[in-house]
Amino acid sequence: MPMPTQEQISGVLGEIQDPELHRGLNDLNMVRGIKIDGSTVGVLIALTIPGCPLKDYFHTVIPAKLKETFPEVSEVVVELTSMTEEERQALIGGMKKEAPAPFARSDSRTQVIAVGSGKGGVGKSTTTVNLAASLAKLGHSVGLLDADVWGFSIPRMLGIHERPTVVEDMIMPPEMFGVKVVSIGLFTNEDNPVVWRGPMLHKALQQFLADVHWDEPEYLLIDLPPGTGDVSISIAQFVPGAAMVVVTTPQAVAEKVAQRAGFMAEKTGLKVTGVIENMSYFRGDDGKEYRIFGDGGGKELANRLGVPLLAEVPIDMELREFADKGAPIVLQAPHSEVAQSLDRAAKELVNLVPPKPKPTKRISLPLMPQPAGNGHQHAHAHHHH
Ligand SMILES: Nc1ncnc2c1ncn2[C@@H]1O[C@H](COP(=O)(O)OP(=O)(O)OP(=O)(O)O)[C@@H](O)[C@H]1O
Ligand SMILES: [Mg+2]
Repeated sequence: MPMPTQEQISGVLGEIQDPELHRGLNDLNMVRGIKIDGSTVGVLIALTIPGCPLKDYFHTVIPAKLKETFPEVSEVVVELTSMTEEERQALIGGMKKEAPAPFARSDSRTQVIAVGSGKGGVGKSTTTVNLAASLAKLGHSVGLLDADVWGFSIPRMLGIHERPTVVEDMIMPPEMFGVKVVSIGLFTNEDNPVVWRGPMLHKALQQFLADVHWDEPEYLLIDLPPGTGDVSISIAQFVPGAAMVVVTTPQAVAEKVAQRAGFMAEKTGLKVTGVIENMSYFRGDDGKEYRIFGDGGGKELANRLGVPLLAEVPIDMELREFADKGAPIVLQAPHSEVAQSLDRAAKELVNLVPPKPKPTKRISLPLMPQPAGNGHQHAHAHHHH
């Protein structure tokens, strides 16, 4: 069999991704030379920064991948150099322009879940905060973007008051209860509301998605403003195919509006995944459920949208009190009926939209290939006992 050509080798190198930037080596302009000498291939790779901790990664993955693809290659010599400051800046600049929202990319590790409602005051933000805390409690990495730029309430509900710091053009989100949080409320003061105009709003949301160091959480929840407006459309554009949960109350009226929110979501490209009915009932001291706001709205909405009803969350004084204190009830009173229903909703959500696989699983190559002999011996030894 003949040796592969430079183009063929280049093609394979392009399939290898930088594990941090999640782009192919060719896209990143990292391949600086390919030399073929007999059955030996030499590859020169420019790292984005000198002394990059990924050195070992490339030394391992590149030879493994090339030898796997081309059996006639007997040896691969990887030489590393680093990009100039100019090259690095060009690369980062280019990436920002090309990929306004990292979550939009097909290889993004983050499952985005927008939480919406047809009308205000149904408990959407309370639900979002508790879902986020509940997902974190289950061991998932979680980000929470408060996209309700007019009525932001997430910082208060999580007791966050500090301004995010900015490091090298990236906003570092404060973290609370294992949830990374960004809200316009962290940048403005509540007595001085921002007047949003369309393009500015779009830009702000884009920045919240692209310029925040979310660090690829497994889940990013987005608290949408009530209704079916601009924000949902922007989010749908930045994160096509994101999941959406619709929060509603049992009343028929709320349900009709909520239904519009659901259909609107589908139209803009969000994928409605489930319905949460909030304020479903009040459990009296007598142990009975009082369906104060009517019955079956959530179920009916879920049926119409063709998605499951994730939970019926009762009306609970403590839920509101904890929210006002900045402490999600799923953490503060985990055994309460209301916390358990929210926890169930979170678990259901994980079943419906499981976390995306980690990149170590996605890249088919082992980071540290074991010499074939070793594995064999080991298996053998095992057999004897
Ligand atoms: N199940 C519940 N039991 C008792 N109080 C609740 C419940 N759900 C929400 N609340 C309270 O209702 C109020 C409105 O809730 P929340 O702010 O979460 O609603 P929202 O839909 O986000 O409202 P907005 O449209 O203003 O953003 C809050 O005071 C909250 O504590
Ligand atoms: Mg709200």
